Amino acid sequence: MNALVLYASKTGNTRKVARAIAEAVGAELVEAGKELLPDLSGVGFLFVGDGVYAGRPSRVLVNQLRDLPMLHGTSAAVFGTYGAQAKQLDVLSDLLQAKGARVAGTFACPGKDWFVLGLLKRRHPDEEDLAQARRFAREAWSGA
Ligand SMILES: Cc1cc2nc3c(=O)[nH]c(=O)nc-3n(C[C@H](O)[C@H](O)[C@H](O)COP(=O)(O)O)c2cc1C
Repeated sequence: MNALVLYASKTGNTRKVARAIAEAVGAELVEAGKELLPDLSGVGFLFVGDGVYAGRPSRVLVNQLRDLPMLHGTSAAVFGTYGAQAKQLDVLSDLLQAKGARVAGTFACPGKDWFVLGLLKRRHPDEEDLAQARRFAREAWSGA
C-alpha cells in the first residue's frame, strides 16, 4: 500500500522521525508548507507528524490538514516529538478523523527542546527513539 509522510518540524527533531518512518515503509516524504502535496488519491496510508509549540502542533500543518480533501478509505497514523506533553499532538488525530481517515495510532518521543535553550531532552530523538518509530510505522502500515 502506498504511504506518504507529511510533517512539519521547526527545529529538526520531527524531521528525523519523519525520515526514519519514510525509510521504514518506503514512503514519499513531504514537508508541510515547503513542498507540494501530491494527489492523495493513490495514497492508502498517511503518516502525519509535528512537534508541539505552545501547546499545539504548528499552524502550517494544521492548516494543511484542514485543507485536505476527505480521506474516507485512507488509513493514517500520527507521530511527533515534544518537550513535555505528547498529548498535545492529539489534535492531529482529531483532524484526520474529522476528514474520515481511520487513525491506527500515535507514536511520540521527546525532542531536544530549544524553548529551554536545548537543555532538556537534549539527546532526543536518539537511535532508540528512531528504532521505535520504525517499528511503529511498519506495524501500523502492515496492519492497515
Ligand atoms: C517555541 C517552542 C515552543 C514549545 N512549546 C512546547 C509545548 O508547549 N509543549 C511541549 O511539550 N513541548 C514544547 N516545545 C518542545 C518541542 O515540542 C520539541 O522540542 C519538539 O521536538 C520540536 O520539534 P521540531 O524539532 O520538529 O520542531 C516547544 C519548543 C519550542 C521551540
